[in-house]
Amino acid sequence: MTYIPGKPISFWIDSTPETHFPSPTHDVTVDVAIAGAGIVGITAATLLKRAGKTVALIESKQISTGVSGHTTAKVTSLHQLIYADLIAKFGEDKAQIYANSNQAAIERVAAFVEEEQIDCDFSRRSAYTFTESPEQLSRIQQEVEAATKLGLPASFVSETSLPFPVAGAIKFDNQAQFHSRKYLLHLVNRIPGEGSHVFENTRVLKVEEDKICQVITDKGTIKAKDVIVATNLPILDQGLFFAKTYPQRSYIIGAQIERSLAPEGMFIGIGEKYYSIRTTPHADGLLLLVGGGGHKVGTVTDTEEKYLDLEEFARSRFGIESFAYRWSTQDMVSFDQLPYIGNLTPFNPHIYVATGFSLWGMTKGTMSGMLLADQILGIKNPGTELYDATRATPFVTTEGIKQNLDVGTRWVSDRLQGWGNSVDDVVNGEGKLVTINGKQTAAYRDEQGEIHAVSAVCPHLGCIVAWNSAEKSWDCPCHGSRFSYDGTVLHGPAVKDLPQH
Ligand SMILES: Cc1cc2nc3c(=O)[nH]c(=O)nc-3n(C[C@H](O)[C@H](O)[C@H](O)COP(=O)(O)OP(=O)(O)OC[C@H]3O[C@@H](n4cnc5c(N)ncnc54)[C@H](O)[C@@H]3O)c2cc1C
Ligand code: FES
Repeated sequence: MTYIPGKPISFWIDSTPETHFPSPTHDVTVDVAIAGAGIVGITAATLLKRAGKTVALIESKQISTGVSGHTTAKVTSLHQLIYADLIAKFGEDKAQIYANSNQAAIERVAAFVEEEQIDCDFSRRSAYTFTESPEQLSRIQQEVEAATKLGLPASFVSETSLPFPVAGAIKFDNQAQFHSRKYLLHLVNRIPGEGSHVFENTRVLKVEEDKICQVITDKGTIKAKDVIVATNLPILDQGLFFAKTYPQRSYIIGAQIERSLAPEGMFIGIGEKYYSIRTTPHADGLLLLVGGGGHKVGTVTDTEEKYLDLEEFARSRFGIESFAYRWSTQDMVSFDQLPYIGNLTPFNPHIYVATGFSLWGMTKGTMSGMLLADQILGIKNPGTELYDATRATPFVTTEGIKQNLDVGTRWVSDRLQGWGNSVDDVVNGEGKLVTINGKQTAAYRDEQGEIHAVSAVCPHLGCIVAWNSAEKSWDCPCHGSRFSYDGTVLHGPAVKDLPQH
């Protein structure tokens, strides 16, 4: 097993207190029930409570320990390269709505911070998308042109504060960064009371819509007029969001850096292999965060190599020698580049979803909370049509079919490929697929030599899970569910654990 330095926990979670909200102990009825306490759920709950609604925010684990607790937490409308593409695919008017709604999300976060005096290391920064390759420069220039046309605060620069030369970069002024969990914990603490609730360790299993919606959880049923499913990828299969998006996993390392060597701003590269860079206050100094190594969930087993690559980048480019943190997470990528925000299906006027943020959910998740709150409150919102979750997705065809083929191929080949036939084949620290008594088994042998054997069949839709060596987890390549080596569900859409074998 490769040694990877750094505490294996997100800095945002490590630097904030644990939360201890209760599970429901009696029947609860509210105006709006919200499944999932990440940035979408918490933003929506905050806005709805402010508007006078009673809400129940229901979290399967702890508040903001999902993707929003593992993000890089840049709050920007500069989403690597997107505006030239959006104008080409959807036209200027729709690209304008995308630009405005993401800028509005930045200002919504800034307003919450200001109104509530939230201590969350919020600071205004410039955001940059850069290339080191002169061949890629035209893509940057096209993006500057597109963003400028849309009135975004964009300019072209050929120099940055990065400690290596760039061929060029697009710069957006007056963007922001923050400590995502400090921000979300502050907001969530304002929710309980006056008929509203926050529940933790309460898993939503399904939602039934009738005159009143019933949210069935593993701790009882919560009734509500409207329900928002804010579980990153909706746990409900109606709406087929698992087929309109794919799960992308990515890695982050954190290392103390001298202030004099730290870059000023937030950065992301382009191309096949790129890195995301920012700093955040840490102890008396700064922590440099470097992200990258993205891949579809469940398609890479040697994930340790991803951390080693990030460390090599930090070492060679910033002279970093020791590493304080490492963590990883995943987000749903939308095939047509737009998030899905709105009703689950045309037949579910009271069930809402938000997904497909393509790794830019600090703004798009905030925007989702704003849009869904507006829809429930009957307020017109300019993004309703563009982001309609039930929209036909004309651009889904080529890429979508290819990605779904990948999933399908994996699904079939998983069932044909050779499996081990004894746990004796599994060495200490390794996870392997084996067939035991005809049962497809995911077996992990821990460092002490003890075997942990669970079903290899994902309880979501039946794909075979794959081993993830750095996280010691079983990851489903189909729609991104993840399970710990003992079978406990870590990430949906699955709502059930892998059964013990
Ligand atoms: C490596 C990486 C870096 C990123 N960096 C940035 C960045 O710098 N800027 C940016 O804008 N975006 C970034 N993103 C994207 C952004 O972090 C996400 O889009 C956003 O956090 C998603 O928020 P969410 O509310 O949808 O999901 P989550 O934060 O995951 O919230 C969903 C919640 O639902 C809960 N849940 C799941 N199932 C159930 C159930 N059955 N019942 C009850 N609760 C349930 C989960 O436990 C979780 O807490 C990054 C993404 C990745 C992968
Ligand atoms: S996540 Fe859908 S089958 Fe596993």
